[in-house]
Amino acid sequence: MTTLQRAEAAEQAMSDELDRIVVKSVIYTSGERDPRAPVQRPPDQGRRYMMGDDPRLPRMPDKPTLFDFFKYRFGPANHLLQSARLAQKNGASEKVVLACLLHDIAIAGFIRSDHGYWGAQLVAPYVDEEVSWAIRYHQALRFFADESVGYRYPEAYIKLFGPDYTPEPYIERDYRYAREHKWYMTARLICVNDLYAFDPTVQVALEEFTDIVGRNFKQPKEGLGLDASPSAHMWRTIMWPTKYL
Ligand SMILES: [Fe+2]
Ligand SMILES: [Fe+2]
Repeated sequence: MTTLQRAEAAEQAMSDELDRIVVKSVIYTSGERDPRAPVQRPPDQGRRYMMGDDPRLPRMPDKPTLFDFFKYRFGPANHLLQSARLAQKNGASEKVVLACLLHDIAIAGFIRSDHGYWGAQLVAPYVDEEVSWAIRYHQALRFFADESVGYRYPEAYIKLFGPDYTPEPYIERDYRYAREHKWYMTARLICVNDLYAFDPTVQVALEEFTDIVGRNFKQPKEGLGLDASPSAHMWRTIMWPTKYL
């Protein structure tokens, strides 16, 4: 079987198990299949298409909170929790601790590519502008050293991307912009507390951050994603990732 046929067979098998037909968004499969290739879908035989709750996923509460997204959609979020705890241990402000807690939520539960930008957009309506700004720019700052705070280019990136990798021009542009910004250090502190935050043996409870989140994250009363903020639809997509429309 070709990759394309395998992808289609897997999609078919998955659909067969459910009473709803699931059609994956192009972004789930782009690269595994050529998005230009025509999709041959078997006849739906009168079955309905997936709308709303996907039974394969834990059901979200009616009025989901940020922590509900952590619990039910953001994979094991150890990396985020450890980063936030490290920031706290280092005496960082609440804004920085919150930024550390949220900095990689796009990777944890949404879209990996350009995760800093997506993450910032997700939280922007609910946090201080400085927090979302820092999340946006940590992505670019990660690639550039700052000796003044002891931040070096990550060893891990040499392994992951090879010694010849250089960031794309938009990353370099955004780094230069951020370098001159009054909130530069907030974004930089995400990188500083991020770097040493990978320890699989340390378990941190989400509840350690209840107060900081309570004071610094404006939880909408309708539930996150069910409000009318400019990023509510993104939270809904995380909640219902397989909705047909
Ligand atoms: Fe990141
Ligand atoms: Fe990170």
